Amino acid sequence: MFEHKYRKITIKAFRFNAETDYLPYYKTYEMTVENHELILDLLNRIKWEHDGSFSYRRSCRHGICGSCSIKVNDKPVLACKENAWDMIDLFGDELIFDPQSKKRAVKDMIIDKKDFWDKHEAIKPYVVTDVDPHPEHESKMLPAQLENILDADYCIQCGNCHYACPVLQVNEEFFGPAAFAAAYRFTADPRDEAGHERLELTAEAGQGVWDCVKCYECAEACPKEVNPIEKITKLHNMQFEQNIARRNVATKHAEGFVRSIKKNGYLDEADIVLYSEGPLGMHKHIKTALKMLKAGKIHFTDALPFVDNMPKSKNLDEIQKLIEISQTNKLPKI
Ligand code: SF4
Ligand code: SF4
Ligand code: FES
Repeated sequence: MFEHKYRKITIKAFRFNAETDYLPYYKTYEMTVENHELILDLLNRIKWEHDGSFSYRRSCRHGICGSCSIKVNDKPVLACKENAWDMIDLFGDELIFDPQSKKRAVKDMIIDKKDFWDKHEAIKPYVVTDVDPHPEHESKMLPAQLENILDADYCIQCGNCHYACPVLQVNEEFFGPAAFAAAYRFTADPRDEAGHERLELTAEAGQGVWDCVKCYECAEACPKEVNPIEKITKLHNMQFEQNIARRNVATKHAEGFVRSIKKNGYLDEADIVLYSEGPLGMHKHIKTALKMLKAGKIHFTDALPFVDNMPKSKNLDEIQKLIEISQTNKLPKI
């Protein structure tokens, strides 16, 4: 039988009305929380029991509409999916509710998601194809083809990953993880014909996948396990396969990584920098190189072009064969 339990907590909620407030502030609410309650229940209780003017978005209460996302103690959550006691276990008995993005706050938890929707729209998040108005049968898809796009298709456009992404905080051009997940989902769809266009768009410096810093925040923030960073990696591969990837520091870094493993069975950190940025680019990393030298991660002769002092893995043959059979695009000869 379900055992009812209760805990007393304090909630500090971000309050701001863009029409009347100059600055935001936090308002404190005390309440007793039962162990079955969700974060959405606590939002409802602030509105229904404490302050009718408190504003937030919600609709389905079933993790489908993607409208109820907020941050709890800086952790992005889908309010109707997150158990309040789990959050109390994690953060203690003071919970802080913030909107997904404070700088886009319109009213309390409600933000203006225009930037999110504009980017979503730009990558054409739908199957582009000439549809026969009188088809003789349905469009068929193999189970393996469906499997390829299934997890990306679970995206509910909640925006959690988008507003957790550190690149978007400093570069508004960047499409962001949700748009990339959608770009992958429709490009990998066998019925679609706009894949080339999407790959061109997502290959552009500044806005594209090569500006992702691989922090995994998007994967952590996603309530539907879409794993956007994995889709970004798949877009990297698709761009290489279709010869769309531009030759720049980021793509050369990816190439240098494979090149190094293929040559040594180990990662040669200095060689990757030399390969992707050239001898002139090396000076930017002097400080890091000195720290790595001190820590024994590199040797002072590592970046010299005629000195090969990298140890070789005893399984080098096997590693090279594995790369050969799994590699889907051609890299420069080493
Ligand atoms: S892994 Fe890339 S896309 Fe995902 S949050 Fe980090 S920088 Fe953004
Ligand atoms: S990928 Fe996940 S976190 Fe990002 S918008 Fe879709 S469901 Fe939300
Ligand atoms: S209310 Fe629809 S996802 Fe939470």
